[in-house]
Amino acid sequence: MARKKLIAGNWKMNETLPEAVVLTQEISNIFEKDWLETVDVCICPPYIDLKPAKTVLDFDHLGIAVGAQNVFYEPKGAYTGEISVPMIKEVGCTYCIVGHSERRTLFGETNEDVNLKAKALLADGLSPIICVGESLEVREGGAYLDYVCAQVRAAYAGIAEAEAKDTVVAYEPIWAIGTGRTATPEQAEEVCAAIRETLTELYDQSVADTIRVLYGGSMNEGNAEMLLAMANIDGGLIGGASLKAQSFVAIVQAAL
Ligand code: PGA
Repeated sequence: MARKKLIAGNWKMNETLPEAVVLTQEISNIFEKDWLETVDVCICPPYIDLKPAKTVLDFDHLGIAVGAQNVFYEPKGAYTGEISVPMIKEVGCTYCIVGHSERRTLFGETNEDVNLKAKALLADGLSPIICVGESLEVREGGAYLDYVCAQVRAAYAGIAEAEAKDTVVAYEPIWAIGTGRTATPEQAEEVCAAIRETLTELYDQSVADTIRVLYGGSMNEGNAEMLLAMANIDGGLIGGASLKAQSFVAIVQAAL
């Protein structure tokens, strides 16, 4: 079944406020609105850049969405340094990345945290982009499909069918992130297909067919087309290449 592709830019901890305004404006300047009929596009800047980035996009009447890179699952309270779902919603976010491998490995985020964050986002009408992916060690050990599918099962625990339809999964092998070592289309497709099979087991085929499964890990304008041509790859989560307007827009064009 044809799913609308999603190209999401994960800016990570890059771009000060003025730099974020410039980058968003550069994307906007070379972006054609018609593309959004065939592909969904989202940028995920750091928290403090969200509002200015959204303002630039709104001013240009572009339907590019804005997403956060992380969120805390409690709605408010004494959680110094955290940002809530209502806060990111209020500045116009419709997506939020959860469980990125950098959060899991550098900040100790667990499968349970990822599940709570996904549920909190869905309860407020935002789409979580749930990241999963194995380390090089797990890949070389051979049990990577079991490992990734277990992450998927944990992330979806207690999420009802109706809400599951609003989720996105991003398969990001850790060995391919920021390394320039992209998974081959076949390697990426194998895992994305296994993720969809897991979603079919958790829900049913029709639900699994509506959930977009993205690939992320050194995706760029040179390899996007081949990756996006695979049956179970419904878009990309782009790190480094999303920080250059030309590269990001070229990847969007590869998804058309
Ligand atoms: P990369 O990052 O494209 O720079 O490899 C992807 C990601 O971490 O989301």
